[in-house]
Amino acid sequence: MSENALRVAVVGAGPSGFYATDQLLKAGFEVDLLEILPTPFGLVRAGVAPDHPKIKSVTRVYEKTANHPGFRFFGGVELGGHVSRQDLLDRYHAVLYAVGTASDNKLGIPGEDRPGSHGALEFVAWYNGHPDYADHEFDLSATRAVVIGNGNVAVDVARMLVLDPEEMAVTDTADHAIAPLGSASVHEVIVLGRRGPAQAAFTTPELRELGELTRADIIVDPQDLVLDDYSEKWLEEEGEPTNKRNVELMREYATRDAHGHERRVELRFLRSPLEILGDDETGAVTGVRIGINKIVDGRAVLTGEEEIISCGLVIRSIGYRGTPLAGIPFDERRGLISNLGGRVLSHEGEHEVGEYVVGWVKRGPSGVIGTNKKDATDTVARILEDREAGKLNTPKNPDAEDVPKFLAEVCPSVVTWEGWRSIDVHETGLGEPQGRPRVKLVRTGEMLDIASAALSQP
Ligand SMILES: Cc1cc2nc3c(=O)[nH]c(=O)nc-3n(C[C@H](O)[C@H](O)[C@H](O)COP(=O)(O)OP(=O)(O)OC[C@H]3O[C@@H](n4cnc5c(N)ncnc54)[C@H](O)[C@@H]3O)c2cc1C
Ligand SMILES: NC(=O)c1ccc[n+]([C@@H]2O[C@H](COP(=O)([O-])OP(=O)(O)OC[C@H]3O[C@@H](n4cnc5c(N)ncnc54)[C@H](OP(=O)(O)O)[C@@H]3O)[C@@H](O)[C@H]2O)c1
Repeated sequence: MSENALRVAVVGAGPSGFYATDQLLKAGFEVDLLEILPTPFGLVRAGVAPDHPKIKSVTRVYEKTANHPGFRFFGGVELGGHVSRQDLLDRYHAVLYAVGTASDNKLGIPGEDRPGSHGALEFVAWYNGHPDYADHEFDLSATRAVVIGNGNVAVDVARMLVLDPEEMAVTDTADHAIAPLGSASVHEVIVLGRRGPAQAAFTTPELRELGELTRADIIVDPQDLVLDDYSEKWLEEEGEPTNKRNVELMREYATRDAHGHERRVELRFLRSPLEILGDDETGAVTGVRIGINKIVDGRAVLTGEEEIISCGLVIRSIGYRGTPLAGIPFDERRGLISNLGGRVLSHEGEHEVGEYVVGWVKRGPSGVIGTNKKDATDTVARILEDREAGKLNTPKNPDAEDVPKFLAEVCPSVVTWEGWRSIDVHETGLGEPQGRPRVKLVRTGEMLDIASAALSQP
């Protein structure tokens, strides 16, 4: 660490945090990357579906960033817990929030919190071994599940519910989830879209995967693919190529003879959940009362017609949401840190000097991993402009050597990059004999023990 370098604290070691870190290092800053978990990589580790290992290999790019001089990792450190916004402003010339979205949207309908009704965030974090969700339990004894939402997360959830156990066995699905998912009674997954097939948010490769499942048929009712005049015209004149390809693919699905697989995934459209129904005694989910919609100017509008789908499991997958952090201006309506192009804005609309934001908590929960690279470029450009104009923060104590001492006082177990590397080696070592990329540790204590043992070795 050099004495006069300008120093940035990046908070959150997901894709946006890593892309921004890389660009800041290349622009001459020193970067400390703080992360609440002992492990890096955000949703690449805890969100991306375990049967998509190629996508997870993007972490090799982030590992290169971590090898850059001027980089330090402090895992297990929570902004808003161990350290405050002010602690960081006291020590860095810029603070960049890359904390992602820790919550998800609610439907706001009766019965939503019944046993057997869950958010996708919770389900995904459970099967991916996020330590905060390792003890969650899912009753997978129902034969029919309803997944609400038409995005790629809904596709992931539907696929994981019917994935062939042999395919799951070679993934890094958390050990605690492998047996329950493998022995799940769920034979039918109904995926509900509030709008029509033309407006579905799936990307085509993900939709195609649903048609290639080894033990589930894909079902689409041809009636659901008869587009209303508005959607027909919109698709023709304004729809993205993805919308067109999706509709074409679903039309192919609708003509398919079922392969006779014992499980099925069915896509149904123009349906909004109105109520999650439950058992009088236990309260557990027994079905969903659905309102049938029509499309009016691109929006879903209830027709007044209703139906009931009986089921024992409901997973809503209608988008993630940021959560406020103490003292950091938050836009409640949009669920993100208030900002203009990545500069954090006060409630009065002024730039909070030295504070920046990137990724899902900057722009909202949309976009694939690569989208965060361009997003990081935009925010880092603002930081460079402010450096040029002499408008970065002036920290009281910019001494890089003080940070580890300070963190050791406020956070009992800080995980360094070397500490994470030993967790990584441990996990991949456990996975190798099983033909799996890794066996994830899901207990924070165990991770910390392995990380600190590495440091104490001569
Ligand atoms: C279920 C799911 C599956 C996905 N699958 C794919 C896919 O297959 N392919 C694809 O391209 N994209 C996929 N995406 C999208 C992709 O994951 C996101 O675009 C990307 O992860 C967003 O990056 P981020 O850095 O903004 O947030 P995140 O990845 O969420 O990273 C935020 C980081 O901040 C940390 N953090 C949070 N709060 C604090 C705090 N208070 N203090 C310190 N650290 C904190 C978190 O632990 C986390 O590590 C998926 C998204 C989801 C939800
Ligand atoms: N394999 C991959 O590449 C992959 C995997 C997972 C996630 N991702 C990416 O991660 C991002 C987030 O994915 P996501 O699936 O969470 O979000 P998303 O793509 O925004 O989809 C959210 C879905 O929820 C629906 N919805 C919202 N509110 C609703 C309500 N009240 N009632 C019923 N339906 C409602 C939306 O319908 P409307 O359109 O009508 O609003 C939409 O269909 C996306 O950019 C996605 O591509 C990528």
